[in-house]
Amino acid sequence: MSLYLEAIRRRRTFAIISHPDAGKTTLTEKLLLYGGAVHTAGSVKARRSARHATSDWMAMEQERGISISTSVMRFEWDGCEMNLLDTPGHNDFSEDTYRTLAAADSAIMLIDAVKGVEPQTIKLFEVCRMRGIPIVTFINKMDREGRDPLELLSEIEDVLGIPTTPASWPVGQGKAFCGVYDRWQRRLLKFERSEGGSNKVPVIEASLDDPVLKAELGSRLYSSLCDGLELLDGAGVPFDRHAYLAGRQSPVFFGSALTNFGIEPFLDAFIGLAPSPGERFTAGGDVVLPQDADFSGFVFKIQANMDPRHRDRIAFFRLCSGRFERGMQATLYRTGAKLTLAKSLTFMAQERMNVEEAFAGDIVGLWDSGQLHIGDTLYVGKPVEYEGIPRFSPEHFVRVVLRDPLRRKQLKKGLEELSEEGAVQVFYDLKRMERDPILGAVGKLQFDVVQHRLQTEYNVHVTFDGLPYQHARWIEGDLDPDEISRRSGTLCLHDIEGRLIVLFQSEWMMHRIMGDYEKVKFIAAVQPGRLAD
Ligand code: G4P
Repeated sequence: MSLYLEAIRRRRTFAIISHPDAGKTTLTEKLLLYGGAVHTAGSVKARRSARHATSDWMAMEQERGISISTSVMRFEWDGCEMNLLDTPGHNDFSEDTYRTLAAADSAIMLIDAVKGVEPQTIKLFEVCRMRGIPIVTFINKMDREGRDPLELLSEIEDVLGIPTTPASWPVGQGKAFCGVYDRWQRRLLKFERSEGGSNKVPVIEASLDDPVLKAELGSRLYSSLCDGLELLDGAGVPFDRHAYLAGRQSPVFFGSALTNFGIEPFLDAFIGLAPSPGERFTAGGDVVLPQDADFSGFVFKIQANMDPRHRDRIAFFRLCSGRFERGMQATLYRTGAKLTLAKSLTFMAQERMNVEEAFAGDIVGLWDSGQLHIGDTLYVGKPVEYEGIPRFSPEHFVRVVLRDPLRRKQLKKGLEELSEEGAVQVFYDLKRMERDPILGAVGKLQFDVVQHRLQTEYNVHVTFDGLPYQHARWIEGDLDPDEISRRSGTLCLHDIEGRLIVLFQSEWMMHRIMGDYEKVKFIAAVQPGRLAD
């Protein structure tokens, strides 16, 4: 048992959430560099840009190996095993991005000091909040002329509604950026501009009352730092570990990923802050402890394999308790089937390799021939079923146009399977039923993937007609679909499990209708199989 506890204590499983261009790739790269998992900066980036340089799905298909191996990146820091889960942004923003957060125990929210809180930050933050995931904030690009740090903090508090507590405080900004004062360790970390930022930058430390510091900063910067710190000490919220772990407060760090500034002290603080794998809840509300001897965990993402002739795929499995051993047998809760977990992968930086053993908090890639679904639980011993992964309301919708009407059956089968795999959500018009299904996605690229896979895996050629809806809510309660359909800018559909969902052309319309039906619940995320709050 102590072996388990020791392994768990050393693990940190986390994700970085941010809006595209905030610097996630750069930060990831620097974390891997510092963790010794890569030796030169640029390797993640080069592969990423190869992936993003094209919108051609065929080319992306060939690059899929990359997205598999960058889905989880492992590195070590100060004796801790870090499992960094990738949450794609950019073009491939999709439901996977949300689902990945179900496997994380904490998150780093990366904010661009120039742009502040942006739309995708808000969406991802909401998912973290829903799951009560603790969030550490890193305000990046301090080497650029950005917004006032106090203004950034109040934007985070106002827009996201989470109190912040600065763990560090910047001295100057942009060209005048001199470093950050570490409020927790009472020391100044001095910034030195480095060529290209590809090597580690030495950090010069000096306490606030060191006369060298005043001389170094000059009296103007020195007194503005003292004023800032005084203000924070007087009016700021003190750090409260309990509130942070409950997702009700976020410690904030400042730095610059590109110039390597602040990464090392950030990592040091982060491993102290980020929780190691904790208890998880079953669908029935029971608690499973990570050190429980019986193996259990759930599938949070499925990645189709590169080879279109096989339906092999990789199921990303998050261990919640016990120990994984290659070749072991586990039970799939949904069907009761016994599976031998023989082909399994782990991920080291960008490499994938066979995994022999793993513990709670680890992510294992299981080869699957089509038996596993997103949200599935595998267990050994006493039956366990985890809460499942919610389905999030889509924001893009298209109507499927089938080129060859004789292939309707194959289309139905293909869409059912792709929906099960979580590649897209499938809806049906209440009147037209199974003719012309409607697809919904969180990211538009999901449609390209579906079109391509229908063609290569099911030999079904489809095109899509775009639909003008931007929001959707599942309905719980007494609502007459005919009445709602008469309101302009709405469309009522059934999802694949027969639940009513209403599409809205604008947020304004949605809120107006929600206001008109106060007794009805309009739900943004549902658990497959049952409605969730
Ligand atoms: P993303 O994964 O969140 O989309 O962001 P990415 O790391 O690709 O960074 C987006 C842009 O921001 C890149 O510039 C990157 O160099 C820059 N960047 C990241 N961190 C910092 C920072 O701390 N300071 C400054 N000044 N810039 C930063 P780019 O011009 O789009 O790409 P590149 O030509 O530099 O590769």
